[in-house]
Amino acid sequence: MKKKDKEDMGNINQDNLIYIKNKHNDDINLFYESGTHKGQFTKIASLVFENVITVELDTYFYNLSCKNLSEYKGVKTINDSTLNILPKICERDENICFYLDAHFFRCSPPITKSEFPLFKELDILNKRNIKHNDVIIIDDVHTFGKQRPELKLNPSILEWENVIPENLLKYFNYKDYEQVGNTFVIWVQ
Ligand SMILES: C[S@@+](CC[C@H](N)C(=O)[O-])C[C@H]1O[C@@H](n2cnc3c(N)ncnc32)[C@H](O)[C@@H]1O
Repeated sequence: MKKKDKEDMGNINQDNLIYIKNKHNDDINLFYESGTHKGQFTKIASLVFENVITVELDTYFYNLSCKNLSEYKGVKTINDSTLNILPKICERDENICFYLDAHFFRCSPPITKSEFPLFKELDILNKRNIKHNDVIIIDDVHTFGKQRPELKLNPSILEWENVIPENLLKYFNYKDYEQVGNTFVIWVQ
């Protein structure tokens, strides 16, 4: 794996994920990941959560992840945009741990540039029934607040430069938030 690929990958381990799941002792059995890529983090999530749903836009990496995850139990892989799937997931009447990691990045083989979905995902989550004690994990804290014009599909739209804790917290009634490894975690009330 090249250094750049590594830099852009999820940066928490299984222990971090167990900590995040248990911090408020809420009953959470479903993990939703946007951006499967090769399925590396999906594997870890499947060791911590009973059910994992992971969504990948790029067909090459979707197929690769299906191969990589074929022996992991409780994992459902979907080849679509998180923006189409997330509203359906939000109809489920259970606590969910959402791991938001869908975005264009430079990898090999290269993927096609696509719109930055994070703020639309947060809008969708904001409309979810508030009775659930969800956990929202946003990856790539190292990129928060940074100008990354080379990653943009549309140069006029704010992406990573607008991803700062203050803007993320606006979407939720939360009981707690914390940086864990390279992720920003919000425990929803
Ligand atoms: C940084 S990688 C994900 C890494 C993975 N979560 C991990 O930790 O191993 C980002 C992935 O998001 C995918 N992606 C980009 N836009 C997407 C969208 N709208 N819906 C789903 N996946 C998307 C990209 O194709 C890419 O494979």
